[in-house]
Amino acid sequence: MKIRVLGSSAGGGFPQWNCNCRNCRGVREGSVRAQRRTQSSLCISDDGLDWVLVNASPDLLAQIGAAPRLQPGRAVRDSGIAAVLLIDAQIDHVAGLPMLRERSSPLPVYATAQVMETLEGSLPLLPLLRHYCSVEPHVIAPGGEAFTIGPLQHTRCHAVALDSKPPPYSPRRHAPVRGDNIGLLFDDQQTGAAVFYAPGLGSINEAVAEALERADLILVDGTFWRQDEMVAQGLSRQSAADMGHLPQSGPGGMIEVLDRLPRARKVLIHINNTNPILDEDSPERATLRRHGIEVAFDGMEFDL
Ligand code: MLT
Ligand code: MN
Ligand code: ZN
Repeated sequence: MKIRVLGSSAGGGFPQWNCNCRNCRGVREGSVRAQRRTQSSLCISDDGLDWVLVNASPDLLAQIGAAPRLQPGRAVRDSGIAAVLLIDAQIDHVAGLPMLRERSSPLPVYATAQVMETLEGSLPLLPLLRHYCSVEPHVIAPGGEAFTIGPLQHTRCHAVALDSKPPPYSPRRHAPVRGDNIGLLFDDQQTGAAVFYAPGLGSINEAVAEALERADLILVDGTFWRQDEMVAQGLSRQSAADMGHLPQSGPGGMIEVLDRLPRARKVLIHINNTNPILDEDSPERATLRRHGIEVAFDGMEFDL
């Protein structure tokens, strides 16, 4: 299985268009050593030709432009993106869907019933796409049977129910139900490798703990370093937990969780622009290095 990180940032990207926090200002001015990052997405393939897009980022067109392998020349109009798999209905994961409207056949979209409902209702991107290429919906169930997606010939997918938050425009923002947020365990039947991907993870439930144990590669929520990160910088009244994210530092934080998994390769993904780990010279980044934890960047690739 091959994976390419298309966008390693959380919603807003890095630097964020209207933000003058230390990181955003620093990367613009060149005073902070950090890489720019686009919003949250990756793609996965078995043969390196046909790919499943996992989350359709608002930055999708730039991400495709930066990844020539997503644009093979097999026909006058062609794309390496054969299907889309969504983990939630947040803006940073779905706003790129309309950018795929020029397809000549319906877009296969894999998502839970709850995500489909949000995309039919309060953020009606599926009705919108029906005016263009149309969609071929595939409903997946968290905790259910493993499922396969056409272009992945020997990699099975499992949807893992997450404790996190549906988007602000969901009627269930403050009362999430199973299926509003999932993580994905990809299991390559040929190589035996497993990857767990969960960019928005509020806590470690039993299913998540199992998936983490199973994984050889963990791509997991790197949104915030601190629980009160946005509050402390005067940027929001919401804590990491209010937004459905488990911070890295502190008791019970992501570093502690990952420390209990000595075998896997560990990579933080979906990094918010306020997070000090973006600064390659920060003490927080040095702490991650000591714990053997990497920070995803746009264009990072894995072959398992
Ligand atoms: C989140 O995961 O909480 C998001 O990145 C928020 C957003 O996209 O605005
Ligand atoms: Mn997000
Ligand atoms: Zn910022």
